[in-house]
Amino acid sequence: MAVLVTGGAGYIGSHMVLALTDAGDDVVVLDNLSTGFEWAVAPAAKLVRGDIGDEDTVRQLIKAHKISSIVHFAGSIVVPDSVSDPLGYYLNNTVKSRALMHAAVKEGVENFIFSSTAAVYGNPRSLPVFESDEPAPISPYGTSKLMTELMLRDSHVAYGLNYIALRYFNVAGADPKGRSGQSTPRATHLIKVAAQTVLGQRQQMEVFGTDYDTPDGTCIRDYIHVSDLIAAHMDALSHLRKGGQSGIFNCGYGKGYSVFEVIKAVERASGKPVNAKIGPRRAGDPAGIVAGAQKVRDILGWQPKYDNLDFIVKSALDWERHLERRNAA
Ligand code: UFG
Repeated sequence: MAVLVTGGAGYIGSHMVLALTDAGDDVVVLDNLSTGFEWAVAPAAKLVRGDIGDEDTVRQLIKAHKISSIVHFAGSIVVPDSVSDPLGYYLNNTVKSRALMHAAVKEGVENFIFSSTAAVYGNPRSLPVFESDEPAPISPYGTSKLMTELMLRDSHVAYGLNYIALRYFNVAGADPKGRSGQSTPRATHLIKVAAQTVLGQRQQMEVFGTDYDTPDGTCIRDYIHVSDLIAAHMDALSHLRKGGQSGIFNCGYGKGYSVFEVIKAVERASGKPVNAKIGPRRAGDPAGIVAGAQKVRDILGWQPKYDNLDFIVKSALDWERHLERRNAA
């Protein structure tokens, strides 16, 4: 019985493959390598280059490797891109997830773990946000993920597909053992961008909006270390394997930091100033979002280890330096 990890060559997926192979699971990765890297896939896993929307390929993989669980990371993740290309996002994130789910149902896969997002909440009326709050996405990205959650909910009822959807808050940092990290060269995520700027790989970064209704005027986010996020996936998988109930869980620490606070943390960790200029707001950005973070602890038994912004930023910086050395070699 193996685990199929879609998007396993990508940033978060590659950390899942490491955790699963470390735990002794058989892992098959399905990735089209559009943003992922072959080298990021743990050697103990089998990498298949292909598309999650290709049902025949997926069904054959499930049969050939006796896949009992799917952990589904593959998808498009840049909020502003989803605003300019909504149909591309609905194709990659919703239509193709439907194909993957259909293949899973047809082949009798038992468990399905899905990378959802805090973006399903949109601009919450109050913080923190809880899983029981009404979703109200303000970007096509958030909507595309919410639609997949709804398909999972209905497929659970109709076909008995067990699922856990994990709503990620802002994922950052890298494997503490230095085996993987956020490697997309044109990444848009704040901590990566700030790390690249302080290391001189970018001349300057931009702070997207200082006129939000927040204490320092910049957006507030709940940053979670990628290894803690993966620990929640491992907990979700063992929960489902033990026959636990399907459901939806926030993955964050329940603490918010502003863009300026993150930039200061990068300055502390590097000992250098970050060259940041103030710019206008970015389309699709909610002012603040912080997780109600208890349910994942109570039901899945999640125990985070890296709940510390300075540690997260340091591990992101370490990974950028590793990439610099790698690219120079
Ligand atoms: N930001 C900047 N400058 C940059 C990059 C980001 O000021 O160069 C700001 C953004 O405007 C935002 C904050 O930093 O206020 C965080 O932005 P990110 O791009 O790092 O992350 P997002 O909050 O847009 O999105 C991320 C994930 C989504 C997830 C969401 C949940 O990409 O998948 O967090 O909060 F849904």
